Amino acid sequence: MDRRNTLGFDAYWMPFTANRAFKDAPRLVASASGHEYKTPDGARVLDAFSGLWTTGLGHGRPQIIEAVRRQLETLDYAPAFQIGHPGAFDLATRLTALAPEGMTRAFFTNSGSEAVETALKIALAYQHARGKPQKKRLIGRERGYHGVNFGGVSVGGILANRSVYAGALLPNVSHLPATLDLKRNAFSHGLPKHGAELADALEHHVRVHGADSIAAVIVEPVAGSTGVIPPPQGYLERLRALCTAHDILLIFDEVITGFGRVGAAFAAERFGVTPDLICTAKGLTNGVIPMGAVIAGQHIYDAFMQGPPHAIEFFHGYTYSGHPAAVAAAIATLEIYSEENSFDGARALEPAFAERIHQLRGAPNVIDIRNFGLMGAIELAPRQGAPGARGFEVHVRAFEAGLMVRNGGDVLQFAPFLNGTADELDETFSTIEKVLRDVA
Ligand SMILES: Cc1ncc(COP(=O)(O)O)c(C=O)c1O
Repeated sequence: MDRRNTLGFDAYWMPFTANRAFKDAPRLVASASGHEYKTPDGARVLDAFSGLWTTGLGHGRPQIIEAVRRQLETLDYAPAFQIGHPGAFDLATRLTALAPEGMTRAFFTNSGSEAVETALKIALAYQHARGKPQKKRLIGRERGYHGVNFGGVSVGGILANRSVYAGALLPNVSHLPATLDLKRNAFSHGLPKHGAELADALEHHVRVHGADSIAAVIVEPVAGSTGVIPPPQGYLERLRALCTAHDILLIFDEVITGFGRVGAAFAAERFGVTPDLICTAKGLTNGVIPMGAVIAGQHIYDAFMQGPPHAIEFFHGYTYSGHPAAVAAAIATLEIYSEENSFDGARALEPAFAERIHQLRGAPNVIDIRNFGLMGAIELAPRQGAPGARGFEVHVRAFEAGLMVRNGGDVLQFAPFLNGTADELDETFSTIEKVLRDVA
C-alpha cells in the first residue's frame, strides 16, 4: 500500500511554523532569482527579508553556484578531524581579515546555533585553560536569541523558546535586562538615546555571584529575531568596559549583524567595540550552503595551545566543520562582498531605508518603528487576547500580495538586500501600509 498522503504536506514537521495552519493554506516558493521568489504558480514575490537574514547579495548568484559546483567535482568531502583541505585555511584567513584587529582565528560550524554552542564552550574551556575553572557562569540577555540548542536557549531570553525546558537548561546562567524601552525610545531613528545604563546590570551579577565565577557575557549587538532592538547609544561600549574591568569575556552573536547587515563587515566594526569572540553564520555563504563560524581573539586561541604538541587542545568539532562545499560558497561570497563593495552599499542604502520605514508611523496599530543598518521592525499593537495574531495575518496577507516579510509575533521584520533599491523599498512599505489598513 502506498502510505504517502495525497496532499504531500503531512510528513514534513516544519520548524518554527504553525504546522496546522500552514498545511491548511500552504505558502510555497519554488524558485528564486535576484530579489524575488516565484511561487509554484509563477506568481512573483518580492523578498523583503533577504531570505531569512541570510541572502544579502540576492538569490541565485552564479559565482557562488559555480564555485560550489567546481568544488564538489574536485573534493566533495574531506575529514574534518586531524586532516585539512586548502580551502578551509584560505577561508579562515579571509574571514579573520574582515574581523576587528586581534581576532585572528576561525572555528567552523554548520549553523548559527552551532556557532553559539561553540563560542560558549570556547569561553568555558578558555577560563579552564588559563587556570580559572571556577569561572563558569554565562550571562545572556532578556529577549536575546542565540539559536535553538541547549546552550543557546539557556543564554537566550525568549520565554517561548525556554519555558518548556525550564529545569533542563544549563545551570549558572543569568540574564541582563532587555534594552527595549517604548516609553522613552519609541520611534527612535537608529540608536535610541536612552538606556546605556542598562549595561550596568552586569555589576549586579558581579555583586551577587562574584566576577571570579563569571566566564562570559553574550549579546547580539543589535537584537534581531526578537524584533530588531538596536542598542542604546553607548550601551555596547559600556558593556565592553565592564567586561574588561571584571575579566569577563564578551561574545557578540553576529549571526544576523555580520557581513554588511549593519553597513560594515561586523557590528563590532560599526560600533568600534571589539569582543573576544564573534559568532557568525547566515551571510557567511549568502545562505547558499549551511555554515557558521566563531572568530576568536588571538589571546583566546593562545590560551589553548599548551600541553604536548600531539595532544588535541579543544575537544570539540563537527563532522562537517569546514565542509568543502560550504567553504567554496563562503569564499565566493566574501569575494563578491569585496568586488561589489557590498558593505558600503548597505551603508549607502541605510538612510533611504530609515526614511521609508518611518513613513509608516501613524499607520493602523503601529506602536513603534525601529531601524539600524538594514535591519528594521514595525511593532504592532497586539489584538486583545490574541498576541501574535495580527502580525501573522500581516505576514500571510503580504505574501498573498507578493511580498515576503517576516513576523515575530506582532513585530514585522525587514531586511532589505545589501544591493537593494529605492523602488524595492517603496514597493515593500506601500504594500505593508495597504495590508495594515486591510487588517485593521
Ligand atoms: C543572533 C542569532 N544567533 C543564532 C541564530 C541561530 O542560527 P541558526 O538558525 O543558523 O542555527 C540566529 C538565527 O536567526 C540568530 O539570529
